[in-house]
Amino acid sequence: MKHLPVETFIKRRQQLMDSLPDKALLLVPSATLVTRSRDTEHPFRQDSDFWYLTGFNEPDALLVLMKGSTLGEQLLFNQPKDKIMETWTGVRLGQEAAVIQLGFDKAFTLAEIDAQLPKLLVEASEVWMPIEDEALYSRYLAWRQQARARFRKQASLPNRITDLSQQLGEMRLIKTPEEIELMKEAARISAEAHNRAMQVCRPGMYEYQLQAELEHEFKMQGASGPAYGSIVGSGENACVLHYVENKDVIQKGDLVLIDAGAEYQGYAGDITRTFPVSGVFSLQQKQLYNLVLKANQLAISLTKPGVTLEELHQASVHCLVTGLVELGLLKGEVPHLIEAEAYKTFYMHGTSHWLGLDVHDVGLYRQEGQARLLEPGMVFTIEPGLYIAPDQQGIDPLWCGIGIRIEDDVLVTETGCEVLTSAVPKTIEGIEGLMKGEVYAATRI
Ligand code: GLY
Ligand code: MN
Ligand code: MN
Repeated sequence: MKHLPVETFIKRRQQLMDSLPDKALLLVPSATLVTRSRDTEHPFRQDSDFWYLTGFNEPDALLVLMKGSTLGEQLLFNQPKDKIMETWTGVRLGQEAAVIQLGFDKAFTLAEIDAQLPKLLVEASEVWMPIEDEALYSRYLAWRQQARARFRKQASLPNRITDLSQQLGEMRLIKTPEEIELMKEAARISAEAHNRAMQVCRPGMYEYQLQAELEHEFKMQGASGPAYGSIVGSGENACVLHYVENKDVIQKGDLVLIDAGAEYQGYAGDITRTFPVSGVFSLQQKQLYNLVLKANQLAISLTKPGVTLEELHQASVHCLVTGLVELGLLKGEVPHLIEAEAYKTFYMHGTSHWLGLDVHDVGLYRQEGQARLLEPGMVFTIEPGLYIAPDQQGIDPLWCGIGIRIEDDVLVTETGCEVLTSAVPKTIEGIEGLMKGEVYAATRI
């Protein structure tokens, strides 16, 4: 299991503080447990920003940073050690170990927050926190009121709050070499799980059984589980973009679309493959599949520093529309069909999103009204698709109910890109070969 060293998290906190004015007070809350039903809870997933800055996986903690603070610059408020509670819900790190193992200047119990935060506020020049977090904001207001009440005339409170999420989003967008290692591992595990699903798929299986095969592989390989709800859509279910029910029987002759990725050390893989249940594509399936593949490979071949995700999307759309006209699924001139967005009947989503600790990761897509230029260290998906609704009018019914998406994860390098998910086949020969039991050798694109 790969782990980032504590120095990485200390350095990130330092770098974040250094990017802001002296005495800027930063507040980053952890996630909290969410009730599933009565007294059971959903599995705990740490807040991505908090994880990025601490590597600490307990609920109900607060990270506080303030450069030049008299109390210490890197502070943690976390659950106290509690023998009885730990017997029920697991060992807590506590304060002493938080300082040693997580590299904080000081750690306090949660009960100390209301005593310490008003003091820090009086010292602070400005405040940075996730401004859409209502619970944190109302606590912040209470700390301000306490600071006023306690320090009266000495209290000169900061009067500016800025959204920390955006600042952190920009940091998180460019992945460091050690993050890239973890993302490669998430991609590798995700790819192996897709290969396994293709190899075991048989007509008559339930979609949820294929899901179980994927998620088994995730865990067996050291991932914490799926990075998002696994989508296993056979037949016309593939036309439902976020189909997560996975409840139907997989029928002979259909395609199966699987969109699933492992989460490894918090980082997401995000792969989609579409393959024939019976191991061989039909003519229509093949024609449509090769068109989506062409768009996927085109966008990958264009990826390099200086281009934009919008350009990749436009190139994919142009490729898909040209092919749809050739197949007779769209009628008219390509530029006009693009202008009128006629392709949205069959291709209604974007081609890319950032990928990282969140499957739809943070970071701005546009800056000062312009599409942002790609830079080395950015990781994103390329995922063109075509979805012909089962009841689509005006076309040969042979096409109806076919849904195809091909999704890869790519890392922008100095000269182009590296496909992190090339260990799963995506050409027709590659897929049919793997399903026949052949060994698959990964290709570059
Ligand atoms: N799995 C979600 C997505 O592809 O965006
Ligand atoms: Mn995606
Ligand atoms: Mn996906």
